[in-house]
Amino acid sequence: MKHVPVLLNSVLRALGDIDGAHIIDATFGAGGYSRAFLDAGAYVTAFDRDPNVVADAEQLSMTYPNKFKFILRTFSHISELPGTYDAIVFDLGISSMQIDIAERGFSFRFNGPLDMRMSESGVSAAELISNSSIDDLARILRDFGDVKKATLLARIIKDAHPQTTFELRDLIHNPRDIAPVFQALRIAVNNEMGELTDALNSVPKLLNIGGKCICVTFQSIEDRIVKNTFRAWTTAPGDPRLPTTVLPQFTPIKTETPTDPEISENSRARSAHMRGVIKSY
Ligand SMILES: C[S@@+](CC[C@H](N)C(=O)[O-])C[C@H]1O[C@@H](n2cnc3c(N)ncnc32)[C@H](O)[C@@H]1O
Repeated sequence: MKHVPVLLNSVLRALGDIDGAHIIDATFGAGGYSRAFLDAGAYVTAFDRDPNVVADAEQLSMTYPNKFKFILRTFSHISELPGTYDAIVFDLGISSMQIDIAERGFSFRFNGPLDMRMSESGVSAAELISNSSIDDLARILRDFGDVKKATLLARIIKDAHPQTTFELRDLIHNPRDIAPVFQALRIAVNNEMGELTDALNSVPKLLNIGGKCICVTFQSIEDRIVKNTFRAWTTAPGDPRLPTTVLPQFTPIKTETPTDPEISENSRARSAHMRGVIKSY
């Protein structure tokens, strides 16, 4: 199924007039955000780590020659970009294309290899389970899935060394733990929280004055990182050499969640939050 962009209208509203602006779309996916930014007159530099999106990205660069550039890398590499930008947008997590293809191994609804690698390279979920100690695996389940009885479950999973999504799913006796276990492994396999933290650290120096950073989050762990980072930027002075009476370097943009109609049209939107900040000096 083609990915339906979540909270796109809220993101466009938060960005305002972007005619002629240069935007980093950190998570290209099916290109829904990038296309909307280009249609509104912006220049876009887009990142995605998934080689399966390259064909869509190439098509978009044919439609918008000289206005669209795609980089097949993880978004922590935004730190290597030259220059400064008017906006940096993150639409986090995985796309419908990734979750709906059984062979990618993200979903407990389809049987496939226990893979979960967005980049299709590196250590798969099955290998991560084999390589981790019971304690490490329990920590992953607890920290990234909030799974109760994580050590017991980690031992069961380690002993069974599952190779497919259904083999893993069938080891989890409490149905309420299934989605959290899959989420926790996916976050660990893709180092999602490390990527997000590193990328956010690069944002202040990459933004022009008046530039905006917008993040759409889908689960509480990534949402907490974004919320705490933005809170720090909007409450503390940006420059530690200045007296504490100076204003913080960023001001907040109102947080938005999807409307009921958006949720009924697109169930992926259910848990989404859009958070944003503006660089004020
Ligand atoms: C929710 S989808 C984005 C959908 C996109 N906004 C659209 O409208 O089609 C998230 C995308 O981000 C990519 N992604 C997730 N983490 C990434 C990272 N650390 N670096 C680069 N791409 C990442 C995934 O591969 C996926 O394609």
